[in-house]
Amino acid sequence: MLKKLTLTAMVSAALLSHSVFAQDLTVGFSQIGSESGWRAAETSVAKSEAEKRGITLKISDAQQKQENQIKAVRSFIAQGVDAIFIAQVVQTGWGPVLEEAKDNDIPVFLLDRGIDVQDDSLYMTAVMADNVLEGELAAKWLINKVGGKPCNVVELQGTVGASVAIDRKKGFQDAISSASNLKIIRTQSGEFTRSKGKEVMESFIKAEDNGKNICAVFAHNDDMAIGAIQSIKEAGLKPGSDIYIVSIDGVPDIFKAMMAGESNATVELTPNMAGPAYDALIKYKEDGTVPPKHIKTESKLFEPDSAKEQLALKKDMGY
Ligand code: AHR
Repeated sequence: MLKKLTLTAMVSAALLSHSVFAQDLTVGFSQIGSESGWRAAETSVAKSEAEKRGITLKISDAQQKQENQIKAVRSFIAQGVDAIFIAQVVQTGWGPVLEEAKDNDIPVFLLDRGIDVQDDSLYMTAVMADNVLEGELAAKWLINKVGGKPCNVVELQGTVGASVAIDRKKGFQDAISSASNLKIIRTQSGEFTRSKGKEVMESFIKAEDNGKNICAVFAHNDDMAIGAIQSIKEAGLKPGSDIYIVSIDGVPDIFKAMMAGESNATVELTPNMAGPAYDALIKYKEDGTVPPKHIKTESKLFEPDSAKEQLALKKDMGY
């Protein structure tokens, strides 16, 4: 009996110390901005997941500028936060400021994008998808959809220099290189925004016989795809049938477009990047457990047949 009581007391004490411990943690998060529906959801999930664990979260919005992110990281270092989370707008130029964080013993966690540094001890872990795989899944879906017929693809790339744009492009390109009927005829950045996606798609349509020469759009995110859908409709064509649409993220609006027959496929990217990072941080602070360098999130492609169900699920995901 005494043994049982002691064990219960020990478990309760451990749980209590875990939650009390997390409540002592402050995380500074340098977020890129709010260029897409996915990005806004990531921010909102970062807040709710912090609340669940009793972590204090400070968010700085960089408005798409790396210089603002670097300033934010320096400010978090000066404030002596317990950890810094960064969603990096571009992949280069992070070495010096990450050295500063390391010199101050502040672990850095990368969310949703990778960086280009020689020394990977400058960050603790990167919580992100395999973005090459995302591009590959989109390409394989299209190869299968066109079934051997010739298909001219236009590509709306994400932010220039962002790891995800580089990787998604690579994954798509490599996968279609084995299909001689598929060709990327135009490619340009739509900066991951709906308005720029629409603008760039307008120019593609004008340059390609009012869109008649275009078979499919590969957009590096759903927001640009939605902008492209608007342009296609304005040109008098039917998105989803005259021009196929495949994109990445899985935001509610793309599932709505699928239900309207205007989009064909999306590769889902979870907006919950912060949750696994908080858990890794807590473990690290508790007993020194070092997480794997890459905590990989799942990449899954969805088509219109599951759009209704996916849309319902999104409500619980911070959208
Ligand atoms: O890094 C993830 C990408 O950034 C998302 O796919 C895009 O919507 C976002 O803005």
